[in-house]
Amino acid sequence: MSLTQEYANQNQWRNWDKYINKLPIQKEDVVLDLGCSLGFVSQLLASKAKQVIGVDMNFQLIEEAKRVHSASNIEYRVGNLAEIGQLELPQANGIWSSFTAAYFTNFDKTLDQWLALLKPGGWIALVEINDLFGHKPLSKESRNSFEEFYQFQHANALYDFEMGGKLINILQSKNLQILHEASIEDKELSFNGPAEPEIVEAWQTRLKRMKPLQSFLGENFHRIKAEFLSCLTEEDHQCICEVKFIVARK
Ligand SMILES: C[S@@+](CC[C@H](N)C(=O)[O-])C[C@H]1O[C@@H](n2cnc3c(N)ncnc32)[C@H](O)[C@@H]1O
Repeated sequence: MSLTQEYANQNQWRNWDKYINKLPIQKEDVVLDLGCSLGFVSQLLASKAKQVIGVDMNFQLIEEAKRVHSASNIEYRVGNLAEIGQLELPQANGIWSSFTAAYFTNFDKTLDQWLALLKPGGWIALVEINDLFGHKPLSKESRNSFEEFYQFQHANALYDFEMGGKLINILQSKNLQILHEASIEDKELSFNGPAEPEIVEAWQTRLKRMKPLQSFLGENFHRIKAEFLSCLTEEDHQCICEVKFIVARK
């Protein structure tokens, strides 16, 4: 399955309306969707705003976004969010960024650049996962392996699996006013009880794509993968993983 197909499939389990209903978005707003991928959310935001600019570094995803989620008031751009100042974006009334902050292990610094594009009084909404593999019941060995993988990825500036839990402090450290904070249930990422078959299938696809996890776990990968997938289907399956959603004002 291509990344484009995988993202399109996962999108059915995101409760976007639940998030968007909490935004202080206005009809005359210019909104940036940072890490827009296929533009699902860009299109939803565009129905409530004057202009949306979606930015992503992945050329193929942006081309697909232009094809499947276009509107007269959406512009898609290829660009690196770590150097957003170079993109000559307009000052915005709102910034949306979902499932993207974790790619920046120094998000504190990246956020400074994003906030420089936000007008005083403007809003920022961030969605991010905390502890993706935080599911129970799992053996202590497997749990430790996932935690060691988190540390390895963070130490190598690749990904922060605990970003969801850090967002509130980071936003508060920028003197932003927190308007809304929640943990959002998600049929694929944060749920209790046994997963439905299509959810287990989606996790299989995700694990197949995660080459860094495979090489980190080496010969233990297949055992840990089998245990993790089985854990998702248990009657007493419980999630520690959370999908954090925070809206703040500058
Ligand atoms: C997990 S996807 C989330 C997509 C979408 N926002 C959503 O919620 O479904 C993260 C996106 O961030 C993009 N991304 C990661 N690092 C980036 C960077 N440095 N600059 C621009 N885009 C980046 C990826 O290409 C990917 O499309």
